[in-house]
Amino acid sequence: MDRLQKVIARAGIASRRKAEEMISAGEVKVNGKVITEMGLKVDPKQDFIEVDNQPLRNSEEEKVYILLHKPKGYVTTVKDPQGRSTVLDLVKVPQRIYPVGRLDYDTSGLLILTNDGDLTYALTHPKHEVDKVYQARVKGHPTTNALDRLRQGILLEDGPTAPAKVKQLKAFRETTILEITIHEGRNRQVRRMCGAIGHEVADLKRIAIGSLHLGSLKPGEYVQTSLKTIEKNT
Ligand code: URA
Repeated sequence: MDRLQKVIARAGIASRRKAEEMISAGEVKVNGKVITEMGLKVDPKQDFIEVDNQPLRNSEEEKVYILLHKPKGYVTTVKDPQGRSTVLDLVKVPQRIYPVGRLDYDTSGLLILTNDGDLTYALTHPKHEVDKVYQARVKGHPTTNALDRLRQGILLEDGPTAPAKVKQLKAFRETTILEITIHEGRNRQVRRMCGAIGHEVADLKRIAIGSLHLGSLKPGEYVQTSLKTIEKNT
């Protein structure tokens, strides 16, 4: 017997935290009954568990690990209330997978998708501190002083950011390309950091997670990889 949220996470539908949210939201049924309280003990072999009215798949299902170049114009949630395209429309595998972490609708770049709840939990846990590298095209030309503020950590409305690595890669007439490395995953963090120094982001792309690189993947393309490769590089 295991706790319901753990069984859902292990089946690869969502991280443990997300599974708890789904339970609270009334999206989970056990033996036909909606369960909203946390911590119910279930036996995945005996109890019939449904998430979003879909039977929970067997946790022994083969695990898959996908590296996708997410194009702009896709959401990284599994379902979008506004009916926009989701990254799952791009990846054709038989398993029910979901994205690890988020990229904004208008951000492109590297995204991991998997049905391995344990990996998702490990990678999204704040203590893991895996570096994420972004290329941001910002409006105008930030001064060294402004870039130093990002390097030191800058105050956002939800608290100060951890120090970031920041390199200026190229300056154009009206914009500048910065490479920004952070390990936190706060909502719209890079956009808000650049906004806080007065340089709005015009374009944002994630080029690496740890030492997993986007490489030559074109927007919409993906490759399947192994747990070993992900663990070795993050
Ligand atoms: N920071 C952002 O602002 N957006 C993303 O999608 C990722 C990081």
